[in-house]
Amino acid sequence: LHVDWDITSAKKGGYPHYMLKEIHEQPDALHNTITPRVKNGMLDFKEDGIADDVFTDINRVIIIGCGTAMHAGLIGKVMFEKLLRIPVTVEIASEFRYNDPILDKNTLVITISQSGETADTLAALRLSKEAGCKTLSIVNVKGSSIARESDYVFYTHAGPEIAVASTKAYMVQLSSIYMIAFKFAMLRGTISKETCEDYLKQLQDTINAVATTIDLDKQIEKISECLTSVEDLFFIGRGLDYPLSCEGSIKLKEISYIHSEAYAAGELKHGTLSLVTDDVPVIALATQEKVYSKMISNIREVRARGAMVILITNGEMPVDDDLCAHHIVLPKTDDQFAPFTAAVVLQLIAYYTSVHRGLNVDQPRNLAKSVTVE
Ligand code: G6P
Repeated sequence: LHVDWDITSAKKGGYPHYMLKEIHEQPDALHNTITPRVKNGMLDFKEDGIADDVFTDINRVIIIGCGTAMHAGLIGKVMFEKLLRIPVTVEIASEFRYNDPILDKNTLVITISQSGETADTLAALRLSKEAGCKTLSIVNVKGSSIARESDYVFYTHAGPEIAVASTKAYMVQLSSIYMIAFKFAMLRGTISKETCEDYLKQLQDTINAVATTIDLDKQIEKISECLTSVEDLFFIGRGLDYPLSCEGSIKLKEISYIHSEAYAAGELKHGTLSLVTDDVPVIALATQEKVYSKMISNIREVRARGAMVILITNGEMPVDDDLCAHHIVLPKTDDQFAPFTAAVVLQLIAYYTSVHRGLNVDQPRNLAKSVTVE
C-alpha cells in the first residue's frame, strides 16, 4: 500500500486549498472572537484591558488599514456612525500618513490589521500617537508591532491565516467592530442596554447563519463557472452592501485576475453604466431592505444594457424572472448582520472562479500575505 502524504496537504486538513479551509473555519473564528467577550449576556472587555471610558471625550474616529482590513473599516464607519453617532472617516494607511491629517487628543484612531505588521498601517499608528490621539487596534497576531504600540488592543481570534486572500480574518474584524460599536453605543447612551443585549444575541446567531451560508458552496461553485472567461465585472450595492462590494471586488481581483469594480449602485448612471454591456456580469448585493426597491431599479438599469446579473438577497425576496440569471438567497438575518453572510458568498465566488481558471488560489502572483515594506 502506498499512501501519498505530505505535510502541506496535512495542514490543509483535507481541503484542496488553505483559502477554502479558512472559509470553512469562519464559524469557529467568530465563536472564538465573540464568546470570550460575553459575560451574562452582556459584552465585557475587561480581559482586553479596554476601559469603559475609551470613547469619553472622543468627538471623531478615524479607522485606518490596508486592503481587506481597510474594507472592514468601511463597514465599521457605517456601524459606528449609525450606533455611536460619532463622525467616522476611513483612511487608506499609505495615503493617510503623507496627507498631513488633522489630529488631536479627541480623536480615536482605530487601526485594523490581520498581521499587525503592515508597514503603512504601523506608520499611520505612530503618526497618530505622536499627534496625541488615542489609539485602539484590531489585530489578529499576538504581540505584533501594531498590537504592542497601540494604547488598546482588541484581538481577533481567527487563528493563523495562510492564504494571501483574507477571509476569516475579515470576518472576525467585522465581529470586533460590531462588538465595539454595540458596547460603546450603550455606554454613550445612544442605544439602550436592552438593544445592546439584543444586538449581541443576533451577532451570536450570525455564527450559525455563516455556517448555513457556507453550505451554499455547491450552488456557488456552479454559478461561478459562468465567470471563468469573463474579463470585466461589476459589484454593486447600497448601504452596507457598498463597502461589502469593495471587499467582493478585491477578493475576485486578487485571486482570479479578473478586472472588477465595486460601485455604489446609485452612482452607476454617473459614468460607469457606459461600460456595462452583455459581456459584463454584475454581482448585485441587495441585502438591505431600506434601499431594496432602489437596488431593484439599479439592477433593471444594468439588465436593460444586457448585463448578466447574479443577485444576492437576505432571505427569499420576490424577484421577477427576467431580473437575474442567478439568485443566491442568504439565510435571513437582520439587515445589519447581512455583511457576515454575504461576505461568505463573495469569498466563495472568488475562490471557485480562481479554481475554474486553474490559478494559484493561495498564492496569487505579485501579492504577499504581509506587506512590511513600503
Ligand atoms: C496584504 C494582503 C491583504 C491584506 C493587507 C493588509 O496586501 O495581501 O490580504 O488585507 O495586506 O494586511 P493586514 O495584515 O494589515 O491586515
